[in-house]
Amino acid sequence: MATTTTVAPPPATLGTELTRVEGREKVTGHAVYAYEHDVEGAVYAWIVQATIARGAVGAVDGSEARRRPGVLAVLSHENAPKLGDPAERELAVLQSPRVHYRGQIVAIAVAETLEAAREAAGLVRVEYAPEGHDVALTADHPKLYTPEKVNPNFPSETAEGDVDAALAQAAVVVDETYTTPAEHNNPMEPHATLAVWSGGDLTLYDSTQGAPRARDIIADAFGIEAARVRVISPHVGGGFGSKGLPRPTAIAAALAARHVERPVKLAATRRQMFSLTGYRTPTIQRLRLGADASGRLVAIDHLAIEQTSTLKEFAEQTAVPTRMLYAAGTRRTGHRLAALDVPTPSWMRAPGETPGVYALECAMDELAHATGLDPIELRVRNEPETDPESGLPFSSRGLLQCLREGAERFGWSERDPTPGARRDGAWLVGTGVASSTYPARRAPSSAFARANADGTFVVGIGAADIGTGARTVLTQVAADALEVPLDRVRVDIGDSALPFAMLAGGSMGTTSWGSAIVKAITALREQIDGRNGKVPEEGLEAEADTGDDIRAQEPFARHAFGAQFCEVRVNAETGEVRVARMLGVFACGRILNPLTSRSQFLGGMTQGISMALHEESVLDREFGDYLNHDFAQYHVPVFADIGDIEATWIDEDDPHLNPMGAKGIGEIGIVGTAAAVANAVFHATGVRVRDLPIRLDRVLEKL
Ligand code: MOS
Repeated sequence: MATTTTVAPPPATLGTELTRVEGREKVTGHAVYAYEHDVEGAVYAWIVQATIARGAVGAVDGSEARRRPGVLAVLSHENAPKLGDPAERELAVLQSPRVHYRGQIVAIAVAETLEAAREAAGLVRVEYAPEGHDVALTADHPKLYTPEKVNPNFPSETAEGDVDAALAQAAVVVDETYTTPAEHNNPMEPHATLAVWSGGDLTLYDSTQGAPRARDIIADAFGIEAARVRVISPHVGGGFGSKGLPRPTAIAAALAARHVERPVKLAATRRQMFSLTGYRTPTIQRLRLGADASGRLVAIDHLAIEQTSTLKEFAEQTAVPTRMLYAAGTRRTGHRLAALDVPTPSWMRAPGETPGVYALECAMDELAHATGLDPIELRVRNEPETDPESGLPFSSRGLLQCLREGAERFGWSERDPTPGARRDGAWLVGTGVASSTYPARRAPSSAFARANADGTFVVGIGAADIGTGARTVLTQVAADALEVPLDRVRVDIGDSALPFAMLAGGSMGTTSWGSAIVKAITALREQIDGRNGKVPEEGLEAEADTGDDIRAQEPFARHAFGAQFCEVRVNAETGEVRVARMLGVFACGRILNPLTSRSQFLGGMTQGISMALHEESVLDREFGDYLNHDFAQYHVPVFADIGDIEATWIDEDDPHLNPMGAKGIGEIGIVGTAAAVANAVFHATGVRVRDLPIRLDRVLEKL
């Protein structure tokens, strides 16, 4: 029998800069990603994609492909195994001849080698019966309708007071339209799956943000019990939302494996990802702000127009942050959708907040300019005391503190507000600021905690580390809750056989999983205490679920906040925009690991700069698809694009959140960044570019 010691506990690890617990494994190449798992007899699949945007597949001729050496099968809607009736219609791979978007999977070649599978896919002849497609979102699209709800479950429309009357009487009005293009998630690791059937049981080694949820959805797609499916995903090379739910590629791998009765590996290529793994909807947003002479908002009106597919209603919650960011006498927010012949948009880092806050924060900057107020002072004057729509108190609201702290650090007070006033040779120099916000939520999760007789502990939870450092922070949470040194605790994640937990999304990972881990450990420690600190040879185990706790939470408006400051240099001759300096200051409760947190903030801000200046999926109306399908043409920043960038935070002691006192940090870094850049470009040049990205031609034409 082992006895847990009763000496003073080790110092808390939360709040310290712990490096990644799996860091060595990753940098030495020992961390195994989905495609790298080894299974005896694995073969390879390569997909064939539709070359029309709407219509039907006719005959699929795989005869030439099948004659090639090593080719095992060519699947199409004619011969593919039947699925159940997937609730996710995007996952009904090869179940019908209908083509809903260009790039949809219409055939799969399977072969002994990757090269043979790829060659075979190229030899498959697909006949089509094309129909006219409708792929271009416009502000007056005849198919626009008002969805009932927007993601994840907000009313689409809200209104308070008479916005139109307030605008008619306002001393100052800003009424502008802002657009954001479609943007594609590009995690470093492409979507990849190794599918293994054994009898009627399916094991998927898959790159996913949530193994338990993926298990349930894949089981539903195949019409089998969830208990017959296991999803294993110990390491994930990024996702940004695109791996939140299983993609058609995962189903394709499992279908192919069932058909050839061999394990099948399938990885999406970077190009294929542009059709199959999700993207951020383009938006067209009209913002109307009305203020009195002192800059107090009398009206906010935010209407977001966006797209979905014919397969599924995906309604991005773009106008939702406008419901809580500022006080206003009257307010109206709403969304319109058009279901086009395009792939279904999906989650991309801070869906809703990212495009929505971009538009709102540019409009606020325009209002500051119109009223002659400093942009920070304008925000101070419109700071609400409680959540404007719900009336609930904020659990904590650090926006003004972030703005003030950031202004101090950034040297904001030296700013001459006149646009175009600063010049350095050919370069016009300007600064901009924007607010940032993201909901601080958590979702029901369960975990187990086990004490071994040798004094070590194992915690298990169906969580995911998509490169964020979650595994590390959860190990800290567990060690502190157990009051033992880190090296006595192992946290197992990334397997649907572990207790069901929230996926890595919505900045809810650490808060959801940490709550379940602390609860399981509390129960375990009670058991240990009940035995006077003795752990029997067979060990002790406790499991806990946080569903009831979360449903019983006190009502508060829980949100993280931040302030983004940016300095740009705009070349007066070429219109080229360079971000010289960027500072983000965040208020996210307690920062659990400064090292990994800073990395999340900087990553988000970098992605925000990318949104401001680089990322743009360009629609080809003729072919019905986004045409820039690789990094040669879809631009993301490299180190040379990111100048002096810094993220910091204010300490926030918020008792209304969770046992760790933390708010999520994975997404807030991107929110507001693009607006700060756009506002800085205006300050540098006097040119207001309202359509992202801020390409040099868009600057130059007005310079
Ligand atoms: Mo994030 S877009 O909620 O995975």
